Amino acid sequence: MFPLNAWYVIATADEVADSPLARTLCDIPMVLYRDSQGQIVCLQDYCPHRGAPLSLGRVNGDNLMCGYHGLEVGPDGKPAFMPKQRVERFPCVEAYQTIESGGYIFVWPGSDQPNVAQVPELPWNQPEWEFGGGSFHIQADFRLMIDNLMDLTHENYVHSSSIGQPEIDEQPVKTRRDGEWVVTERYMEAVEAPPFWKLAMQQHGLDTDQLVDRWQVCRFKAPSTIMIDVGVAPTGQGGINAPVEKKVHGIVTDFMTPETTSSHFYFWGMARSWSIGDNEVTQAIQRGQQKIFTEDLEVLERQQKSLERFPERKLLMLDIDAGGVQARRQLQAMVDAEHRG
Ligand code: FES
Ligand SMILES: [Fe+2]
Repeated sequence: MFPLNAWYVIATADEVADSPLARTLCDIPMVLYRDSQGQIVCLQDYCPHRGAPLSLGRVNGDNLMCGYHGLEVGPDGKPAFMPKQRVERFPCVEAYQTIESGGYIFVWPGSDQPNVAQVPELPWNQPEWEFGGGSFHIQADFRLMIDNLMDLTHENYVHSSSIGQPEIDEQPVKTRRDGEWVVTERYMEAVEAPPFWKLAMQQHGLDTDQLVDRWQVCRFKAPSTIMIDVGVAPTGQGGINAPVEKKVHGIVTDFMTPETTSSHFYFWGMARSWSIGDNEVTQAIQRGQQKIFTEDLEVLERQQKSLERFPERKLLMLDIDAGGVQARRQLQAMVDAEHRG
């Protein structure tokens, strides 16, 4: 059902401390903790003794101690100690490779050798970018979020008070492939900036009375990364190619991590190239995004329920859906390749 040989964001770095965090990823129950050196450990959340979830226990040095009868499992998944027992021959617990990068913890749930080169690149890991973000637990198939982010025509209806504007409906959207990426893009010329972007222009010292060129370039990489290049520049400055001081420009970063077939964790944020080092701007954008993505959450959870009520109905695939449709094809190709393998 899910591609497993891939990196998924399982948590933000600050969610995992010295007590165990239970989290299901791709239908696999996992438990995360930090060892005595602060390194992340990720194990299957199952005690080999009597099957209690290890996450009910506690961290003891480098080990995770089951809360039922005290069996301790090491970071490599090997049983290390149990009072009055010899543990050498006890079955091991599955241990998963993790990488901590850019404030996120990535996990590789599959059985193939993890490929470190495939950890998503994070645009804000550079001095010229600033970042703020958050996360949601959403009761909807992660592919519904991919559809949502690869088709921004919904902005005009779901987000009419912040980033929606009628010109979104008037401009055609183009979908194409760029190597491993599926790209859906839309450009609007000489339009009035919507409220979110007017505020950003103000923060960047640009005249908000000017008409702007606006762009939205959504890029999807299977299985769960979407980076959306968004911004506005006063008309005549080159749009997306305008010099940094003449545009407000950000990358909406999205990681959709499947929990089950009908729920996911959504890690969202925005890397931006204006007001660097200004924490108030970061917090204001975070609040704005939280509100916007809450509007998406409400639609998606209802859409999930509606789809479950009518499982036999076929969905339309319009030009505006091409990005999501191609993304799903890529996901399916990964799943098929893993099954063949
Ligand atoms: S179930 Fe974990 S120690 Fe017994
Ligand atoms: Fe949205």
